[in-house]
Amino acid sequence: DEQIKEDDNCSLPSMDGYPECQDKLMWMKKMWKGDPCYASHGVNGTLCSIFIYLSETESWCPLLPGRVKHALRYAEVQDNLSGLYPALENRAQYRWIYQRIRSMDEIWNIGPHSSLLQILLHPGVVTDESHLKITETAFSGGPLGELVQWSDLISTLHILGHHLHLSASLSDLKDFLGVKSNCPARRSKIEADLIYTDIIGFQQIKKALQGSWIQYKCMFRVLDSFGTEPDFNHAAWAQKQNLKSPFGRLSLIPMQFYTMFPHTPDNTFLGFVVQHQLSDNEAEQLKSNKRLNQALVYGKSATFWEGKEAYLDVIHKYMEIHATVDNSTRIPSYVKNHGIIKGTEVQTLLRQSKVFVGLSFPYEGPAALEALANGCAFLNPRLHPPQSSLNSQFFKGKPNIRELTSQHPYAEAIGEPYVWLVDMHNSTDVERALTAILNQTIEPYLPYEFTCEGMLQRVNILIEKQDFCHGPGSWPPLSALKIVEAKFGTSCKQACQDAGLICEPAFFPHINNAKSLSNYSADCQESEQSDRSLVFPAYSNTASGKHCVFQSDPLLFSCVRSHKSLIRICPCRDYIKDQIALCRACV
Ligand SMILES: *[C@@H]1O[C@H](CO)[C@@H](O)[C@H](O)[C@H]1NC(C)=O
Ligand SMILES: *[C@@H]1O[C@H](CO)[C@@H](O)[C@H](O)[C@H]1NC(C)=O
Ligand SMILES: *[C@@H]1O[C@H](CO)[C@@H](O)[C@H](O)[C@H]1NC(C)=O
Ligand SMILES: *[C@@H]1O[C@H](CO)[C@@H](O)[C@H](O)[C@H]1NC(C)=O
Ligand SMILES: *[C@@H]1O[C@H](CO)[C@@H](O)[C@H](O)[C@H]1NC(C)=O
Ligand SMILES: *[C@@H]1O[C@H](CO)[C@@H](O)[C@H](O)[C@H]1NC(C)=O
Ligand SMILES: *[C@@H]1O[C@H](CO)[C@@H](O)[C@H](O)[C@H]1NC(C)=O
Repeated sequence: DEQIKEDDNCSLPSMDGYPECQDKLMWMKKMWKGDPCYASHGVNGTLCSIFIYLSETESWCPLLPGRVKHALRYAEVQDNLSGLYPALENRAQYRWIYQRIRSMDEIWNIGPHSSLLQILLHPGVVTDESHLKITETAFSGGPLGELVQWSDLISTLHILGHHLHLSASLSDLKDFLGVKSNCPARRSKIEADLIYTDIIGFQQIKKALQGSWIQYKCMFRVLDSFGTEPDFNHAAWAQKQNLKSPFGRLSLIPMQFYTMFPHTPDNTFLGFVVQHQLSDNEAEQLKSNKRLNQALVYGKSATFWEGKEAYLDVIHKYMEIHATVDNSTRIPSYVKNHGIIKGTEVQTLLRQSKVFVGLSFPYEGPAALEALANGCAFLNPRLHPPQSSLNSQFFKGKPNIRELTSQHPYAEAIGEPYVWLVDMHNSTDVERALTAILNQTIEPYLPYEFTCEGMLQRVNILIEKQDFCHGPGSWPPLSALKIVEAKFGTSCKQACQDAGLICEPAFFPHINNAKSLSNYSADCQESEQSDRSLVFPAYSNTASGKHCVFQSDPLLFSCVRSHKSLIRICPCRDYIKDQIALCRACV
């Protein structure tokens, strides 16, 4: 096989960890004259000039000894959001996002320093080309989760001082990236260091850039509210297993999907910020004993209310019920409806109320946390049977099979006295929760990871440390790794959780061989490599000892699946309380 070897004029470093470097070198050696942009980057046909280009301008090869990649530019941290407004205020697609950002202007604190990046944001959901009309329905009761997350991401990145390029259409996108060029930069307006998009946006980008999207592959961060599990992500696997989803099969690294809540640890938890503007004085006033005997119902659309009369009747025995639902909805006559109102007015209602009433849908929205932050208890309806893409119309086609045991699993984990799991069809159970809520003082509660400060800390560290361009990295630090075995039928997500830890997929490559396992007192008498399942590394006990199976396809590493006759070997780590995305040694 043909190989590029070093020559008299250029000695090359080891290419371990850069599997594509050789191929790229060979291609460039033949093709560098094909596009003048390579010469404009200093390529002159010598091996060293090509190697320098491939390591410094693109990232396929390691740095030559003695060379440094462009010096980091330092970001100038912003102390307010006003610098964002010109890019947002006159664009229809960003109208809702602009309003949210403005309404939260005062709660953002100054962020920590980091290196300055050029960041392209392409929210597919707001583009006209997506035909979703989400930017119009946002003002009339439409779903807001994605817009909430985009708003808060934009604010975070701005406060951290990065340069943002906001795209709202395919023509913006093409303009920023320059579509026809083979080599990046120069021809496009910006040299993007990171590209945030969502699944629709990602599909638009792939189509617009055709083959050259691949050079941006490792820069993508894909906002994906409910998450994409590795088997749905892996195009060939999903095809073979007939896992049908219009959103899967992107074959990115699963951690490139950024979720709304910490769903599967295979993805990255991005989150959002919960609105809360509390001085100590206000917090004191917001204690539940100073409030009206009032409940606010979580439900803006008529369909959520269907069949819930008996449940609401029980609640009405204890308190007055308010709602913010479309005026045309048929609701019990005792409900005081305010119609669709602005976010700030909803907060005012929450601050007067003692209970925020879930109707079992919508699932996993931001509103439940907003209610807790404003001092309400949340009635969280149990879902039986648990709902997933296998049995629920809402999740159908979503690229995961995560099961929800209640309307809001994240809130469920917070538990009493803030969150009360109730069976809507059992009046005794609903009454049990209500009497307990009314008989105590409940303080406003907001997990750190949903504050501005928590989001700034998390996003800043993810930007600095998370790297998908240079093979398995050194973050999170290996010192955080704790190996846990998952019994038959148990996933690593579960096994780590049972040990008070979280599964960390970035550690899979480190434990995927017999040598490193022997370091963790898990000796394998026999071993093999396989890509038949998502549960590897795992072992079975045989007559001759442990038979270990290691994962041969890194895209099939997964925290979430289990096997009935194999014991999984799980990479777990600790986490900062209320900041689950980060380990203690991560910050
Ligand atoms: C090394 O550089 C010299 C002078 O520039 C050149 O003549 C020679 O061909 C080069 N050697 C190789 C192997 O490229
Ligand atoms: C080609 O580029 C390399 C690396 O930048 C440089 O060291 C070398 O002098 C250049 N050679 C020629 C002939 O321009
Ligand atoms: C907001 O920040 C900009 C630039 O960082 C500054 O010029 C402006 O005075 C600030 N405005 C307020 C209200 O602090
Ligand atoms: C809906 O009802 C509220 C309260 O009665 C009222 O203030 C609001 O104007 C109504 N909205 C519409 C669109 O009818
Ligand atoms: C109803 O709820 C009560 C209190 O939580 C519980 O003891 C009872 O078993 C439930 N009844 C049914 C039929 O689930
Ligand atoms: C209310 O709380 C008090 C003190 O914790 C307790 O003694 C009482 O039984 C409670 N009453 C109800 C109705 O739960
Ligand atoms: C095993 O542990 C030793 C000492 O802690 C370390 O130096 C070595 O790199 C480890 N080996 C593997 C394969 O992880």
